[in-house]
Amino acid sequence: MSGFEEGELLAEVEITEKNLRWVPQAAVIAREGGARLREFFSQGVETEYKGDVDLVTVADRTVETLIRTRLGEAFPDHGIYGEEGTRERLDGRFRWYVDPLDGTTNFAHGFPHFCVSMGLEERAPELTSEQDGTLVAAVIYDPMRDELYTAERGQGAWLNGKPLRVSRTPELGEALVATGFPSRKRHETPNIHFYHEFSLRSHGVRRAGSAALDLAYVAAGRLDAFWEFNLNPWDTAAGILLVEEADGTVTNFSGGKYLLDSREILASNKVFHVEILGLFVEMFSGSNLSPIPSAQEFAARRAARAAR
Ligand code: IPD
Ligand code: CA
Ligand code: CA
Repeated sequence: MSGFEEGELLAEVEITEKNLRWVPQAAVIAREGGARLREFFSQGVETEYKGDVDLVTVADRTVETLIRTRLGEAFPDHGIYGEEGTRERLDGRFRWYVDPLDGTTNFAHGFPHFCVSMGLEERAPELTSEQDGTLVAAVIYDPMRDELYTAERGQGAWLNGKPLRVSRTPELGEALVATGFPSRKRHETPNIHFYHEFSLRSHGVRRAGSAALDLAYVAAGRLDAFWEFNLNPWDTAAGILLVEEADGTVTNFSGGKYLLDSREILASNKVFHVEILGLFVEMFSGSNLSPIPSAQEFAARRAARAAR
């Protein structure tokens, strides 16, 4: 259901690395970070708690330090904003949002689905700290599959050097979609209700545990849409550019421009984005939702069947 149609590999996608300003060096850094993650993964690492169920490991911290050092060498005037606390040169024109290990819970449990995510924002000097600049480069590296997703604005999105395009799936009823759940303030998110409704209205919902890879998969046409509450810029910056450069779209839940601190994200192949926005309206107003039996109702029916 995904990708380019035959004959659609346009000559204009023949963009070589020499046209790219940041991706070649950033890709080397992401691969090096990913190789360290692979080593830690095969050795096994101790897990610490940042919150209730919010995990962190030596791998998260070591790889953020590595990426910070390498980015500083490659782009000495670029800022860095990393999940594990790096805040450097944030008043400059360029800023990297870095998640050294997106999918820590998977990693800590030996579930091989996680990545390094690095997104570059260009910020015009007149912007206030609340305003977004423009995402200009993206690198996501999945070290367990050796899959490198890259994009630069206006140059397309790529997986291991092959051009990416979002799916052509026409409607939610034929879609494979994905979401995620936060590890902080879990009792405050209504997302399980959205999960329920999307499960009934699509081919299925995947909850694989790495928001950056979920976005990369939308760009690659492996997923048709992705939504999540409460994400941070290091989770989304790279993936947003990948989706946009693969001809998909990313908005907030009202259909407005997605800002890096929007937190609520909807990414899709564009084709049925409006349909999903309509479902969000229904969800938030509680109308037209699909009923399912409660566990008690189900148990009562089961008991009645057994008694017959
Ligand atoms: C998490 C993952 C997960 C998403 C969580 C994120 P982390 O990032 O992206 O898929 O559902 O909201 O916090 O903690 O593994 O870097
Ligand atoms: Ca993350
Ligand atoms: Ca992380």
